[in-house]
Amino acid sequence: MEGNMPRGLENIIALESEITFIDGEQGILKYRGHDVQSLSSHSYDEVSYLLINGRLPDKFELDSYSKKLKQERVIGDDAIAILKFCNFNIEAMDALRTAVSYMSHCDPELNDNSAEANVNKGIRMIAKFPTMVAVFSRQRRGLDVIQPDLSLSHGANFLYMLKGSKPTDLESRVLESDFILSADHELNPSAFTARTIASTLSDIYSSVIGGLCALKGPLHGGARMAVMEMIDEIGSPENAERYVMDKVSNKQKLMGFGHRVYKTYDPRARVYKQLAREIAIESGNMLWFDIAEKIEEIAYREFVENKGKPIYPNVDFYSAVVYKYLDIPPKLATAVFAIGRSSGWIAHCLEQYSDNRLIRPRAKYVGPDLD
Ligand code: CMC
Repeated sequence: MEGNMPRGLENIIALESEITFIDGEQGILKYRGHDVQSLSSHSYDEVSYLLINGRLPDKFELDSYSKKLKQERVIGDDAIAILKFCNFNIEAMDALRTAVSYMSHCDPELNDNSAEANVNKGIRMIAKFPTMVAVFSRQRRGLDVIQPDLSLSHGANFLYMLKGSKPTDLESRVLESDFILSADHELNPSAFTARTIASTLSDIYSSVIGGLCALKGPLHGGARMAVMEMIDEIGSPENAERYVMDKVSNKQKLMGFGHRVYKTYDPRARVYKQLAREIAIESGNMLWFDIAEKIEEIAYREFVENKGKPIYPNVDFYSAVVYKYLDIPPKLATAVFAIGRSSGWIAHCLEQYSDNRLIRPRAKYVGPDLD
């Protein structure tokens, strides 16, 4: 605490929201009143509709919403060229923010801040993010761009555009669940950033780009890539003990562990662990899952049992294991997280615009007074 101010605004209630509920003591996460564990077996289209519209769609509403999303999947040759220009010295998140910024220039509704136009722009972003990420990655690897397949789900189509072959049913379901589990998390740093920008009545593209910039950081979405690299570095379950103990004795953070809000097991990590186990079994290679489970076991012994600190796996831990089995390159991990998170940012912006008051807190001045 600094004076009576919690550092990093810890536990400060900054606004009221009807989107996401978290109980960090009990490990409960709900979108619009629905437990995230039960939602993880729905489609991403249903859940993004839920976040944006406040309730699950009926069949007719879902068909029409999914159709709109599919129609918006394609990106133009100019956007493909922009993503190619980006391919010299930047990472996927930087390329994605550049491409979204370019996309906004081409949107005739850019400066129409009506609720209807903002929903339209939101649908365009949700639909085009996977195409942008896949196009960036394929061009970076010197491969041809693959056009979206409108017969596939949001998750399956992304894997198809990324790899060039149709995913298995399990791979499709796992990525669909990943997008759902990543879709929103109350007033996390990127949602707060997006809402702050929206509160100035800037456009929804600028707000979402702000969210992307915040997600990139290693203390937020960037941890997923770090966990993938950690699993590679450890290489086998036998090496996990020394790796974790080095981190503990050097007082370094173990990536994919700890959370500002959860003081118990992150409910998303529980679902991800099950998905990771299923996909490991299907692949016939348990290595990465076994390394992760060993890290978790040692971390529990050190943090929870020995030190009494509530540091458990967070959303980025087993999701990173899932990404390894899906053969998603580590450097793409945060951008894949952003594909799922896009609907949460859009829901937050829409809620902010619908009952706006400028977000403008104060700082306590502690510098010199020279005059
Ligand atoms: N490994 C080791 N110690 C940790 C960890 C960790 N991953 N996380 C927290 N601690 C310790 C920390 O050293 C501190 O100990 P002490 O009180 O002795 O100084 C105590 O726990 C509190 O840590 P903090 O950094 O003040 O806690 P915070 O609420 O500011 O941080 C966090 C939350 C997520 C930034 C932090 O847990 C962390 O850096 N984790 C690693 C990065 C990571 O996995 N990030 C993904 C977060 S979840 C996805 C998302 O929401 O985007």
